[in-house]
Amino acid sequence: MINPNDEKKLIRLVNSLIGLLLVLVVTLGGLFFWMLFRENHPVDSNIIILDSAVNSTITIKGIDTEEGQWVTPDLTLEKDKALQKTLLYGQQLIQNTSIYLGPKGTLAQITNGMNCQNCHLNGGTQPWGNNYSAVNANYPKFRARSGTVETVFKRISDCFERSLNGKAPDSTSKEMVAMATYIKWLGKDVEKDKKPKGSGIYNLAFLDRAIDPEKGKIIYDLKCKSCHQSDGQGVMNDEKNAYTYPPLWGKNSYNSGAGLYRMSRFAGYVKANMPLGATYKNPQLTDEEAWDVAAFVNSQERPNKDLSKDWPDISKKTFDHPFGPFADSYTEKQHKFGPFKPIVDFQNKNKR
Ligand code: HEC
Ligand code: HEC
Repeated sequence: MINPNDEKKLIRLVNSLIGLLLVLVVTLGGLFFWMLFRENHPVDSNIIILDSAVNSTITIKGIDTEEGQWVTPDLTLEKDKALQKTLLYGQQLIQNTSIYLGPKGTLAQITNGMNCQNCHLNGGTQPWGNNYSAVNANYPKFRARSGTVETVFKRISDCFERSLNGKAPDSTSKEMVAMATYIKWLGKDVEKDKKPKGSGIYNLAFLDRAIDPEKGKIIYDLKCKSCHQSDGQGVMNDEKNAYTYPPLWGKNSYNSGAGLYRMSRFAGYVKANMPLGATYKNPQLTDEEAWDVAAFVNSQERPNKDLSKDWPDISKKTFDHPFGPFADSYTEKQHKFGPFKPIVDFQNKNKR
């Protein structure tokens, strides 16, 4: 016979053992699920990575190791996994801006349907394809257009408001942070204040005549129309949430405050990159053709931007900024179509 006192003690012992076991199971179980969650979810679970975007992600490798040429850092080799995820998100936003932020954007509807990549080719890594290699080494920097020292955020916002004719996401949003992180990371190995060869847009030699929209139309019909269409409106994809061939003018194109609205930027971009497949090494247009097609495209209708706050010091306006007042006596027409050399000579003579 068990003494009733001992029996009570035994029951209490068993009870506390069961309690202890329960606590252990709950703790271990919790730990297990936490580990599982950590493995399978991005560091920031609000970041949605589209399958289609992942599949179209560029393979970042040395794009061109020609002497002095910048080599794109390899995203797949980034050891900091949290950083890598942010970089991947930034890259996707730049490649597929419209899917996220276009008129049918999944996150917001704040842009015209173009992608950053339409003008910053291959995820912003293409030599003379308006790549981002010089950004990290040169920002923040003073820019005469705004008359202020600009951060990378401000520069990205500019392209949202001008090239994408829309609004920029807040500078503290995951999207802006990811894009800025990606853009700066691409140029992380570039020495401060240096510009790698092939960064940005190629500067074409000037013609000694005014550039000619009528000649440009002939080039356009021959070499651009097949993709960008005779009405310049481009072609959308089947889902109608992004462009297969982006527009060159009209309501969904870049506005009058955008970089490409300057003839020299357009001509330099096109010479090294268009028709699609052309490169700076294998261009398909002569300099004259590139200049004249710029004159034609930038004579078509496009959204207007209020530029009254730009260029607080008008003497700093670029030679091909097409809106007065100017510090020289050349007309708006000459600032738009050239001949440009006399204007540049005048500016160089009067540099303070
Ligand atoms: C319609 C064409 C176009 C689109 C679309 C576009 N940009 Fe740009 N971007 C330009 C041009 C042109 C420049 C100026 C290049 C120059 O002056 O040499 C520029 C410059 C920049 C710069 C500064 C580069 C430097 O080296 O100083 C950054 C950063 C930038 N863009 C980011 C973006 C981002 C991010 C997007 C998408 C949200 C975007 N851009 C969309 C045309 C475009
Ligand atoms: C075979 C099709 C094709 C032809 C032909 C072509 N383009 Fe493009 N163009 C594209 C594509 C695609 C893009 C966007 C590239 C990307 O996102 O990677 C583009 C982008 C552009 C852009 C920057 C984005 C924008 O919409 O403003 C300009 C400017 C441009 N093309 C001008 C021209 C000009 C000028 C010609 C003729 C000399 C031309 N293209 C011929 C397919 C073409």
